[in-house]
Amino acid sequence: MDLRMQMATFPCLMLFLLLWSQVPEVQGQEFRFGFCHVQGVKLQVLRKAFGTLRDTVQAQDNNTSVRLLRKEILQNISDAESCYFIRSLLTFYLKTVFKNYYRQAAELRVMRALSTLTNNFIALTSALHPREEDAVFSLADSARRQFLQVQGAFQQLDLEAALTKAVGEVDILLTWMEKYYQC
Ligand SMILES: *[C@@H]1O[C@H](CO)[C@@H](O)[C@H](O)[C@H]1NC(C)=O
Ligand SMILES: *[C@@H]1O[C@H](CO)[C@@H](O)[C@H](O)[C@H]1NC(C)=O
Ligand SMILES: *[C@@H]1O[C@H](CO)[C@@H](O)[C@H](O)[C@H]1NC(C)=O
Repeated sequence: MDLRMQMATFPCLMLFLLLWSQVPEVQGQEFRFGFCHVQGVKLQVLRKAFGTLRDTVQAQDNNTSVRLLRKEILQNISDAESCYFIRSLLTFYLKTVFKNYYRQAAELRVMRALSTLTNNFIALTSALHPREEDAVFSLADSARRQFLQVQGAFQQLDLEAALTKAVGEVDILLTWMEKYYQC
């Protein structure tokens, strides 16, 4: 990867390094999904972990014409819906995807990266506290319907292919999450 590509891929990291080299302490790196703010999980750590398994896992995906995290869905999530949507999606990754991918991850020797992703997704999920008031029920409901489209596409595929695709699409997820990351 040349430097220009790296800068496009890791804009926050580059900014972070730039700031870090000038200021002893950098504050304010956090995710802001609507009104859910999460500190303590770093996008760069997620990107780095995914980077070590990306090529291996994506090479196992035999059907690149199918996509779970479709653009039309992700681009349609409003700021206010994002907290509900990301919570459903991360829970799905933890309970359905990563949990069932450990055997393949061991065979492919990418266990360590998968554990890092798992631990950071757990930390993010447990820090997301959407408001449960009636006033925002319609938001939760709409986010839920959009999440169900992702889950539906996953269920259409053979389990092994679906797991491979979902893990391989974590970079699409991270790119979407980056919009909500303040660095
Ligand atoms: C890829 O998925 C599509 C839609 O599910 C299916 O029609 C096609 O046969 C699949 N191709 C391969 C190579 O599995
Ligand atoms: C886009 O969002 C609107 C409102 O939340 C929803 O009604 C519609 O079904 C969504 N479209 C897709 C493709 O998810
Ligand atoms: C994709 O195809 C290769 C070669 O046929 C196979 O080893 C691999 O298990 C397949 N991947 C999935 C997820 O089925």
